[in-house]
Amino acid sequence: MADLAVRVGTLALRNPFLLASGIWGESGESLAGAWAAGAGGVITKSIGSEPRKGYPNPTIETYPDGSLLNAMGLPNPGIDEYPREVEVARARGATVIGSVFGADAAEFARLATRLAASGIAALELNLSCPHAEGYGTEVGSDPADVEEIVRAVVREVRIPVIAKITPNSPDPAALAAAAERGGAAAVSAINTVRGLAIDTSLRRPVLAHGMGGLSGPAIKPVGLACVWQIYDRVAIPVIGVGGIATAEDALEYVFAGARALEVGTAVTQSGVAVFGRLAEGLSRRLDELGYSSVAAAVGAAHPARA
Ligand SMILES: Cc1cc2nc3c(=O)[nH]c(=O)nc-3n(C[C@H](O)[C@H](O)[C@H](O)COP(=O)(O)O)c2cc1C
Repeated sequence: MADLAVRVGTLALRNPFLLASGIWGESGESLAGAWAAGAGGVITKSIGSEPRKGYPNPTIETYPDGSLLNAMGLPNPGIDEYPREVEVARARGATVIGSVFGADAAEFARLATRLAASGIAALELNLSCPHAEGYGTEVGSDPADVEEIVRAVVREVRIPVIAKITPNSPDPAALAAAAERGGAAAVSAINTVRGLAIDTSLRRPVLAHGMGGLSGPAIKPVGLACVWQIYDRVAIPVIGVGGIATAEDALEYVFAGARALEVGTAVTQSGVAVFGRLAEGLSRRLDELGYSSVAAAVGAAHPARA
């Protein structure tokens, strides 16, 4: 059986499939549920300095292929409340990766220090939410900002720092290179792709917030292209995310250059049982193709490194 265990910097994962941020991460119990179902690690919701209710409904539009357009508005209980949920998940044995969002380097660094104290194994920086004014893409689209934020966080914490890159920029690989310069242990790509749906009867956007972020099968080619370009540009590990629902999707990402993978929308459709299916399916496909491990297959579709 192919070895599914992977290392992302110093972070050791029992398999490459991580629960993506913002999905199923409401509570420590739900994080622990994804772990018990076979996830290689679980990423928390993105946590900010204060509790946030998020945007009013409707916040989600669904498409026939299973893709989603969402503008949740980063609802979260805030940094004073959330760390106890991490402790619940850790007590159940889960490898927990934190996620934070802030408006500038100082806020990211403060949040990182607070969440790191809860015993998370690594920290992902949400530099890429496409629909929260003042956060996410607004602070994650400029390579200089990305480098400054990552550097400020790396200075404060001893755990691996993962920069989550937006696809809503002309050159996502330049953002990844900036994160690497700032000291990131890895980059994850991608967050959702900016999108819009219009209600023609009401002559207004379907989502209350207007713009949203697209996820699920529709964005897999976008995610693959970003991972491919980032893999060519940086030496640090790349975590692939966007439209992964089957082992074949996962293998495409691994061949494009991903060392680990995040799964979001597929969990909303199929529940956490998807993690067991993905791990078993990827192991089988690697065996069929003659790979002894995930690590041996990373980037295999790149001509120069195949
Ligand atoms: C409802 C919803 C909420 C999300 N919330 C967050 C979040 O809080 N932080 C974050 O970094 N990404 C968030 N994301 C983005 C996902 O983590 C992921 O990057 C994206 O959905 C693409 O992966 P997928 O196609 O597997 O869903 C959210 C996505 C969805 C659909």
